[in-house]
Amino acid sequence: MKTIDQLGKNELSGKKVLLRVDFNVPVVAGKIAETFRIKSAKETIDYLVANGAKATLVSHIEAIESFSPIVEQIGEILGQALTLVPLSELNSRGNLFNASPILLLDNIRQDKREIENDKEFARKLSGGFDFYINDAFAVCHRNHASVSAITEYLPSYAGFLIKKETENLSEALKAPVAGKIVVLGGAKISTKLPVIKNFLDKAEKILIGGAIANSFFKAKGIQIGASVVDDTVVDVSSPKIVLPENIVVTEDKTGKSGATSMPLGNIAPNQMIVDICPEFAEKFAEIIKGSEMVIWNGPMGLSEIERFAEGTKIVAQAVASASRSIIGGGDTIAAADKLGLLDKYGFVSTGGGAMLEFLAGNELAGLKALGYYN
Ligand code: 3PG
Repeated sequence: MKTIDQLGKNELSGKKVLLRVDFNVPVVAGKIAETFRIKSAKETIDYLVANGAKATLVSHIEAIESFSPIVEQIGEILGQALTLVPLSELNSRGNLFNASPILLLDNIRQDKREIENDKEFARKLSGGFDFYINDAFAVCHRNHASVSAITEYLPSYAGFLIKKETENLSEALKAPVAGKIVVLGGAKISTKLPVIKNFLDKAEKILIGGAIANSFFKAKGIQIGASVVDDTVVDVSSPKIVLPENIVVTEDKTGKSGATSMPLGNIAPNQMIVDICPEFAEKFAEIIKGSEMVIWNGPMGLSEIERFAEGTKIVAQAVASASRSIIGGGDTIAAADKLGLLDKYGFVSTGGGAMLEFLAGNELAGLKALGYYN
């Protein structure tokens, strides 16, 4: 895989770079609710500007149709004035090269050929550029035109973020088993089960909380009442997997009508599990604090509601005090950021699905296209 640091002033000065970033951020009431992903693209953008290149940024966003309402906020976060270019101008190409100094092409998924990895679309996108740089680690698990097919039309490099993500996440896979702890929570067991399986022989312990624990309870025939659970069947069991023994339950997940701590198994049919009990979270914390390396993805409960956030808080603090920590996932970052802990971790991955696929040992289409697996 060629990386951006192989391009210096000689190669970049006066050149036009198509830069894939992942600005797929949550937007609440017109405001960017989590800025971490955008900040993470700054190093590569600053490098291109400092070396005299003109850059056109390309990203998708799911929360809103167009970047238009947040383009100014993105510019403020990056400390660069950005000009938004409508996707329709891809055909006229007019504005694409007036780099002033940086352009942002509007939501690339407005054109469905993006998700179809359409070659003709990628060829059009590449027209007039000298280099393609991919710094959008979080979308590298998608075989999309601006991630994969584009590399067939331009000399392609990984940006600083992809370099850091792949270095740190491969270290998570390769570091010695002894003292390596994986902590998984949140929902979507289907995306986390492959990670659990991959780490059975790569980690000393795998601590499970959040809604994914419900799938384990269900598989064991333990009552989970009205708790969130999906249809994925948990077909793994190991003494390395540690499940919560004490839980917090409620009848009302808004948090308005209270919550009760109880041992597992005593739940009523109308109650749901919304957190791990703080005393039990301390047990997780002790294991984490004594580790050599901890990898954490997914909150321990409905951490966006203050009343159900205690288990996640205890785990987040423990992970922050571990010798080496790697965390990731949108909800995990949001929870850690709210606690003011984000700069206390060794590495924070911008990837949600991409981080999980990498940790599951799967090849990521975008990395493959950059030659990472050669
Ligand atoms: C993410 O948020 O995980 C990435 O931006 C990929 O988004 P997607 O799941 O919509 O492809």
